Amino acid sequence: MSESKGAFGGGAGMTIPPLPARWLYRIASTHAFSERGLYLNLGYWDGARTIDEACEAMVELVGQTAGLTSADEVVDVGFGFAEQDIFWTQRFAPRRIIGVNVTPEQVRVARARVQKLGLEGRIDLREGSATATGLPDACCDVVIALECAFHFDTRERFFAEAARLLRPGGRLVLADSIPTGPDPDPWRQPLLALLSGIALFALAVPRANVYPRDVYAAKLAAAGFEGVRVESIRDRVFPGWFRALAEDPGLRRRLGPVGWLLRRIPEAQYEAFDYVLAVAHRPMTETVD
Ligand SMILES: C[S@@+](CC[C@H](N)C(=O)[O-])C[C@H]1O[C@@H](n2cnc3c(N)ncnc32)[C@H](O)[C@@H]1O
Repeated sequence: MSESKGAFGGGAGMTIPPLPARWLYRIASTHAFSERGLYLNLGYWDGARTIDEACEAMVELVGQTAGLTSADEVVDVGFGFAEQDIFWTQRFAPRRIIGVNVTPEQVRVARARVQKLGLEGRIDLREGSATATGLPDACCDVVIALECAFHFDTRERFFAEAARLLRPGGRLVLADSIPTGPDPDPWRQPLLALLSGIALFALAVPRANVYPRDVYAAKLAAAGFEGVRVESIRDRVFPGWFRALAEDPGLRRRLGPVGWLLRRIPEAQYEAFDYVLAVAHRPMTETVD
């Protein structure tokens, strides 16, 4: 197991706190990645030809991985504009989804969309933080965090909150981007260290969330989860996203200043990130020491 150190991982590097995620999404306003609907994920590019297909494929993948059924009560944190909740409701018909999102503007837009579709009895959207949802203990069968846990302060606190929210046997599923390196030494590579610090700040990622897959899995186990699987799907996410940024002017336009910025990040920079699909479940019975 290897905790990340240095400028990216918080060793001798800068320790400026990141931009709060809600500010980032306020700046991005109601700009979404997809043309149809309002998805905000990088997409799962396993045969997808457009960003719309890829965003929906990511949501389908997460729903399938969670094994959503009509018996499930779901808590979905970081729901963006709730496009994913609308999709899962129509596709898998879970009993109820409670969404928790920290960006008030997104919650407002999402509620209006859900109401327009007459789904407010099935999808209950709330403003709040994934690390302190205020929901009761053991209130759901599934917790989902789709491309948002890297923002949480911290991801580890969210693991504890998810364990609290889940009924025994309940499932946690995350699609998550993790900055893992390179790990520039600020004394030897000051420019790279500075750029890494700026990237974490601008992407609203706390340094405490920077660690590789094996540490991620260990932190899930330490939070009391069983059956932990953390699989890298980076090759079905980043190359497709990078290609779409280069080739799809509509995507760049929709992203506004964020798109301008992202377009300038060279593909090599993506090597500093992993993208994982993580699954774990709460034990059926708790062991008491
Ligand atoms: C990249 S977007 C993904 C949105 C959506 N899951 C999707 O894939 O379309 C990240 C989302 O996480 C939300 N978020 C960030 N920090 C959060 C926190 N601490 N608690 C709840 N939501 C948070 C943001 O408001 C935003 O909606």
